[in-house]
Amino acid sequence: MQSRKSPLPRYYQLKEIMREKVTSGDWKPGDLIPSERELGEQYGISRMTARQALTELVNEGLFYREQGKGTFVSRNKITQQLIRLTGFTEDISARGQAPATRVLSMHMIPATEDLAERLRLHVGQPIFRLQRLRLADNEPLAIERSHLSFIGCERLLDEDLETQSLYRVLESRYGIQLIQAEQELEAGLTNEEDAKLLNLPIGSPALYTRRTTYTNRDLPIEYARSVYCGHKYTFYTHMLRNQ
Ligand code: GLP
Repeated sequence: MQSRKSPLPRYYQLKEIMREKVTSGDWKPGDLIPSERELGEQYGISRMTARQALTELVNEGLFYREQGKGTFVSRNKITQQLIRLTGFTEDISARGQAPATRVLSMHMIPATEDLAERLRLHVGQPIFRLQRLRLADNEPLAIERSHLSFIGCERLLDEDLETQSLYRVLESRYGIQLIQAEQELEAGLTNEEDAKLLNLPIGSPALYTRRTTYTNRDLPIEYARSVYCGHKYTFYTHMLRNQ
């Protein structure tokens, strides 16, 4: 540590040292940070102090933790613009990364009261439910839980949704025009199930979205609840102040 006499708390000094290592390029995105024990030995501080510095940098988004692997320097975040209606595959490809999908489950379910209201159906009407893990360059980024309803939507059960984009399938195979969407965004912490799928410790920062997508007749076609890794995502929007 620079100075025991410094008026700054020691965890804070360590935070600034680590931040400097990232800014100077000494530590690069994706690099593994030394463990609490190693930092403690290297800087002559307690593990508790090292932990506090690491935790704060994780909370600030500069570092992220992976379950059972350690703490790493965050990569540049994925920016999802909230101006044009785009799907996951388009967003990731636009960044020059390779999108991938793991279908976790898909089946037909009867509409619950909430889903019926969101998709403008009657309670009990059949809905296609799709749960997917979405990855970019082999790294898990999001879990998407989609609910779709249109005449013949059960045919989606036969589609290969691991290699095909859902929006593409809807548009090119089913002739459904996707016109607009509404999306809500909320901060939260991952529960056990989501943390496991996203390879994160339980209680990691996450962004929760709820999106309803409409077709040309202004009919809701998809209602999706998604959870995005907090340290990997930025949402961008552009605002005009009209008269
Ligand atoms: C976004 C939306 C989902 C939608 C998905 C389609 O991520 N949040 O509601 O299902 O895009 O993406 P793709 O066309 O890659 O399947």
